[in-house]
Amino acid sequence: PVLILLGPPGAGKGTQARMLEETHGLTQLSTGDLLRAAVAAGTDAGKQAKAVMEAGDLVSDEIVIAILRDRLGEPDCARGVILDGFPRTIVQAEALDALLRQTGQRINAAISLAVEDAAMVERISGRFTCGGCGEGYHDTFKPTAKAGTCDHCGATDMKRRADDTAETVAQRLEAYHAQTAPLIDYYQTKGAVSHVPAMGAINDVATALNAVVRRAT
Ligand code: AP5
Ligand code: ZN
Repeated sequence: PVLILLGPPGAGKGTQARMLEETHGLTQLSTGDLLRAAVAAGTDAGKQAKAVMEAGDLVSDEIVIAILRDRLGEPDCARGVILDGFPRTIVQAEALDALLRQTGQRINAAISLAVEDAAMVERISGRFTCGGCGEGYHDTFKPTAKAGTCDHCGATDMKRRADDTAETVAQRLEAYHAQTAPLIDYYQTKGAVSHVPAMGAINDVATALNAVVRRAT
């Protein structure tokens, strides 16, 4: 199966994709994570992406599609994927359609996580991630049991993202509304969209999402 999670920055795409990975045996594929890895590794794509990401703008379709295509070809993606943060433009959506035609796969559902912009700054400014296993946390909404220590792997290097500042969040929201929100209509015309309210608590959103995923796969 191929599932797409659509939603603005901070909607909970990464949080929910990691939960779905465990409950449904699918592979999470986050272009944001892949781009951050490319930046950290200093690849050519990473060098081009770094300033764009820190400004809160979208990285070029060319770079993102190439990274996605490579990752989608890896063996662990054959069991099915949850796309988290891709596609983000109509050009990317069309490229995905073409890639899936080649592999004979289809999109089971494009799931739109519905949230209010006003909540996003609070969610994003409180976010931190475990440097050991990548688990995501939040100062208020999902704290670690022991301060500074990951509940999952026990690592003590917690990271905050360079683009999680108030100014950058505003730009990321603008990019979402201008370039990504039109994808809801794109998938609507294909009859593949489900709307899941995502203002509630993490576990309540997960319950609603699980029901949609079970129906779609
Ligand atoms: P990316 O990494 O995809 O970031 P994003 O879309 O801005 O999304 P976030 O990771 O900020 O949010 P999320 O929805 O995953 O929320 P999370 O679960 O962490 O992209 C970063 C950049 O890379 C882009 O700006 C762009 O430059 C580039 N990029 C990536 N993909 C691209 C593409 N396809 N094309 C072009 N450029 C691309 O949750 C947020 C916080 O809230 C966490 O702390 C979490 O614990 C908490 N939380 C989650 N759910 C809830 C809840 N229900 N209640 C309370 N708190 C919650
Ligand atoms: Zn960890």
